Amino acid sequence: MNKKKLTVFSAIQPSGHLTIGNYISVLRHWKEMQKKYKCIFCVADLHSLTSLNKEDNLYKRKSILDTLALYLACGVDPHKSIIFIQSSVHEHSELNWILNCSTYYKELLRMTQFKNKLTNVTKKINAGLLNYPTLMASDILLYQTDLVHVGKDQKQHIELTRNIAIRFNSFYKKVFKIPNVLIHNFGSKIMSLIEPNKKMSKSDFNKKNVIFLLENPKEIFKKIQSSITDSDSPSKIIFDTINKPGISNLLVILSTLSGKSICKLEEYFLGKSYIYLKKEVFNILNKHIIKIQKKFFIYRKDEEFLKNISFKGAKKASKIAKKTLNSVYDSLGFLEKL
Ligand code: TYM
Repeated sequence: MNKKKLTVFSAIQPSGHLTIGNYISVLRHWKEMQKKYKCIFCVADLHSLTSLNKEDNLYKRKSILDTLALYLACGVDPHKSIIFIQSSVHEHSELNWILNCSTYYKELLRMTQFKNKLTNVTKKINAGLLNYPTLMASDILLYQTDLVHVGKDQKQHIELTRNIAIRFNSFYKKVFKIPNVLIHNFGSKIMSLIEPNKKMSKSDFNKKNVIFLLENPKEIFKKIQSSITDSDSPSKIIFDTINKPGISNLLVILSTLSGKSICKLEEYFLGKSYIYLKKEVFNILNKHIIKIQKKFFIYRKDEEFLKNISFKGAKKASKIAKKTLNSVYDSLGFLEKL
């Protein structure tokens, strides 16, 4: 019997250069996932408006195309999956308004990411930052998604998406499929290099905390060398996120990219120095990054090709999105759209 494939949705916002956090937790899995699932991968450019300032506008188009080219470089295949840019499918913005009206203000205030941004950012906060999760919910619900593939930091947003969908379905009519979250057990929260108690983030002001996928290997080497370990003497390379967050983070990076278990790595590093560990982390990262960058530069050179992929992807996405949005309008008692 031909079993119907589950639909997976995922997205990354092009609000800067993609990091190894994005790669390890989501992007590196997409090539394989295409075999098992019907995949929809989106470049969430509308979301990036919540954090960009005016100077960044100059780089917006570049970042969008960079992100698209990185998807391809990591093995996303437009013949197998739908790849598109969020702003090219206007149904996302339309549904966003409707879902804002099905979401309580206090639910949005409770979002950890919003609360963190409030305390970390000194500049003015726009309302989009508060409403960020309802746009995410629109992205997901438009495609009748079964599984949303994200890193750990997004779990709360997916729970909210589920709540919004359940509320809408029971209040109006059953329109939305209730999605589940797909988070990999391991590598779903890569920490900063200098401050290993906080998540690695594209927007970190301290660039020493972050490794970017398009970064020069020499720079990556320096960053890993200066990453924080601890002062245990002799060196003790074990996984212990509470007492040894820096070492644990390096072990996670190494384990996910090499496929070796943490136990095996702990055995292997017994009696070895932190410098040795850092060298091994660099070697494996470098192997992945060189491969990605090689492909990236080939795709990135041909903007017409990228725009064509985005155009075709948007057409496919729009067909599905339109259908859901029409059911939404119908359930709200609005006039049918032609
Ligand atoms: P963004 O661009 O911040 O992150 C993209 C994905 O990368 C994951 N991630 C990490 N995982 C592990 N360690 C890290 N340090 C790290 N940093 C980021 C995030 O969890 C995410 O899965 N709002 C989303 C983009 C989005 C989206 C959606 C995702 C927009 N609409 C609908 C799923 C469904 C975001 O976090 O982007």
